[in-house]
Amino acid sequence: MKAQLDILSAGRIYADLILAGLDADPAPGREVYAKQFVLVPGGGAFITGAYAAALGSRTGLYGLLPAPPFDTCIREGIAAAGLVAHVAPAPAGSDPQLTVAITGTHDRSFITRRPGRALPDGPLPAASHLHVGELATALEQPDLIAQARQAGMSVSLDCGWDAAALADPRVPRIVAEVDLFLPNAEEAAQLAMHGHRLSPRHALVVKRAAEGATAQVDNQDYSVTAPQVSVVDATGAGDAFNAGFVTAWLSGANTQDCLAAGVACGAKAVTRIGGATDLGRLDLRAEPPAKTHDKLH
Ligand SMILES: Nc1ncnc2c1ncn2[C@@H]1O[C@H](COP(=O)(O)OP(=O)(O)OP(=O)(O)O)[C@@H](O)[C@H]1O
Ligand SMILES: [Mg+2]
Repeated sequence: MKAQLDILSAGRIYADLILAGLDADPAPGREVYAKQFVLVPGGGAFITGAYAAALGSRTGLYGLLPAPPFDTCIREGIAAAGLVAHVAPAPAGSDPQLTVAITGTHDRSFITRRPGRALPDGPLPAASHLHVGELATALEQPDLIAQARQAGMSVSLDCGWDAAALADPRVPRIVAEVDLFLPNAEEAAQLAMHGHRLSPRHALVVKRAAEGATAQVDNQDYSVTAPQVSVVDATGAGDAFNAGFVTAWLSGANTQDCLAAGVACGAKAVTRIGGATDLGRLDLRAEPPAKTHDKLH
């Protein structure tokens, strides 16, 4: 019998073209030179999926590949991460879906091309749990979460910064259909600014970078501080956090332990370069323990 997936991680799959070690910050009319270039799979769905697989969950990646030649690095990344591929080629003639990340001397800049739809046509692949990598994808495909529910799947949803998605009046309804909603602090503030009331079925989890993360469950507040680490590259920290929290939640852990697992994965992500390549097998018991505050009011 075919073993069913634990987690199906759905969303936009990007080729990340990262230029680092610049001799000066980019400026109009000037040429600057990079010491390093890497091409790696990116996007929330891939990064959360790769971390979940590294934590031992049988995980599938669901999305459209970037157009050639950028599909090759994604296929290689899927295989290397031990993900089950539920991917389809980009529609003929579409631009490749990619992000160019420029790591300057002070800060990073990103340019993203996001053509067409996020997900393939056809039925949703079977799994125990659906994770959706960004709010915009849930808005673009309004029947996605309903399909997952009908198939008996639990659902988690990351937010991601997308001004139009954050302002969309359908947001409260979508969030009410998911078990776990996981924005970062800026996204949560922007959603509040738009007057959206967020009531996911189980937990509202807010990622707070160096401060750790908080969760609200049944009107009770929980929080975990992040360990002090030296940050090398913050790419994908939030997506790594999702994998820790979701896998712990699926295993029946309590809210504090779910937060601690999320924060441990976030700490792992910020202390390494790049999104989620070469993770190997992750054992959270080997990571430094997070400080917890039980049921803050
Ligand atoms: N400077 C840091 N020191 C320690 N841990 C960190 C740091 N930054 C992020 N983390 C960990 O990673 C988690 C997620 O980071 P963050 O709040 O930046 O998410 P995000 O903004 O969604 O990230 P992403 O860039 O992936 O979208 C945090 O909850 C924390 O556990
Ligand atoms: Mg994020």
